[in-house]
Amino acid sequence: MDMAGKEMKCLSERVEGVSTSKAMLITDRAVSLQQSGFPVIRLEVGQPDFHTPTPVSLSGINAIQQGHTTYTLNAGTLQLRQAISHKLKQENGISYTPDEILVSNGAKQSIAQAMLALCSPQDEVIIPAPYWGSYPEMAKLAGAIPVILPTSIDNNFLLDPKLLQSKITPRSRLLTLCSPSNPTGSVYPKELLQHIAHIVANHPRLLVLSDEIYEHIIYAPATHTSFASLPGMWDRTLTVNGFSKAFAMTGWRLGYIAGPKHFVAACAKLQSLVCTALS
Ligand SMILES: Cc1ncc(COP(=O)(O)O)c(C=O)c1O
Repeated sequence: MDMAGKEMKCLSERVEGVSTSKAMLITDRAVSLQQSGFPVIRLEVGQPDFHTPTPVSLSGINAIQQGHTTYTLNAGTLQLRQAISHKLKQENGISYTPDEILVSNGAKQSIAQAMLALCSPQDEVIIPAPYWGSYPEMAKLAGAIPVILPTSIDNNFLLDPKLLQSKITPRSRLLTLCSPSNPTGSVYPKELLQHIAHIVANHPRLLVLSDEIYEHIIYAPATHTSFASLPGMWDRTLTVNGFSKAFAMTGWRLGYIAGPKHFVAACAKLQSLVCTALS
């Protein structure tokens, strides 16, 4: 066995069991081809085709110049969480206090932390396919088992509630819903979400991770419904959103999760061990 092979043997089962983000592998390859002078049409990553809006950029520049460059609270500044709380109330009809919101380095981190904080080994994470490639890998990293539920083009790639119902087991812990969806662009109609909510209501251990990062990339007549706004679903839902897609801020790395305080506090505990400098 060569040296690299020996070192591979030393990796934890968790890390050996998951794949590197495939989109990032393709990005690395595309960038290296571009750097060697090849013309590459880049379709691999959800990068908006406009720049961060000027008022946002100017606020960022001003903040840096004014010295807002130091550690913040683990959960993010109170001011930002208050602004997010206001947005979620006004735009999504869901009430979260600032201490029910955790700001992270992108929605991706929010999702990974939620899986790690909520799933015990052998728990099941239900993922409608086609899906954003990180969901199953993050579930595996948490020791959970991804349960992939196929959808079909005849059904606009939307989850069939009957199929969901048939796949729920006592180990079902998390249902990932991504609406508007990456990669299909499908938007879950409110009636379908209500149907899903009825099913979730009957399974007290099952939570919903509602990934709403593409909320603003939506075309009429479709409209966005936040899962947590449905009756009875607030305390069963973790709402994930961020600034990357709506405001072309992918490189700023800013996203958040909102949910019942005990779940958000568990995510914050993980974040405090990974992101903050305080010991
Ligand atoms: C479905 C989905 N969720 C979450 C993310 C992560 O976004 P962020 O840049 O906020 O980490 C992405 C990014 O491509 C995505 O496509």
